[in-house]
Amino acid sequence: MDSERIHERECRFSDIVGEISKSMEMNHEFYDKYASKYDDMMKSMGFKIPGHLARLCMENLSDGSKANLAKLTALDVASGTGLAAEALKEAGFCGVIDAIDASLQMNEVAKSKNIYRKMLCHMINVDNRMPFPDNTYGVVVACSALTPGHIEHDCLYDFLRVVKPGGIMIFNVSHLTTVDPDGECVQCAKCILEKMHDEGKCECVSETHTDMFKADMKYHKFKETVIHCFVKN
Ligand SMILES: C[S@@+](CC[C@H](N)C(=O)[O-])C[C@H]1O[C@@H](n2cnc3c(N)ncnc32)[C@H](O)[C@@H]1O
Repeated sequence: MDSERIHERECRFSDIVGEISKSMEMNHEFYDKYASKYDDMMKSMGFKIPGHLARLCMENLSDGSKANLAKLTALDVASGTGLAAEALKEAGFCGVIDAIDASLQMNEVAKSKNIYRKMLCHMINVDNRMPFPDNTYGVVVACSALTPGHIEHDCLYDFLRVVKPGGIMIFNVSHLTTVDPDGECVQCAKCILEKMHDEGKCECVSETHTDMFKADMKYHKFKETVIHCFVKN
């Protein structure tokens, strides 16, 4: 879709949502362009995932983490305008939160909220790992980041890499498998999650199926999602 058509659809976000998955380039144009409107658009559709994910995150913290909440550090991957961090704080998280996102404009909006300790503008992909040492964060959260054209499922290994042993990684996935034009399963989150588990890297502590939005959505593939929470071994 070209930028003229994006412009024509400026006020019809629910139509656009069906299109944003198509390519990485399109996404960056989309997020940079709509950054200042993102929160209102998501609010108008009743975007449920940040709050749901934050509550599950708090529930699944280890007893040790719960006892030392102020010392916990979290990384918000594909942080956008900061909705997940705001929801985490509302759910009682009181440690520091760092942010990483590919869109400068989304970062700018988040910066105005003063919720993050540090914010990085960085495009995450399998060849461009996150610039953090192994075992850095007690919590890694990725809210609506693993959608087509956003962060590849293979990057889950990199998410887990930066979690401290005993820490949690929580994210939602709207499509567990993607099929290439030859019908081959690629970027299969289910296979990746099973492999990480089988290799003893982490344990699944909760898997929650839910709607993404309170409002009715036209495009079914964005209607439902699964929130996965893992503890790193
Ligand atoms: C649907 S928004 C979610 C933002 C926020 N987590 C929330 O829940 O509101 C997706 C975000 O992912 C970012 N993003 C997409 N692909 C990315 C990539 N490969 N690396 C880093 N950020 C990416 C976009 O810039 C956008 O801010």
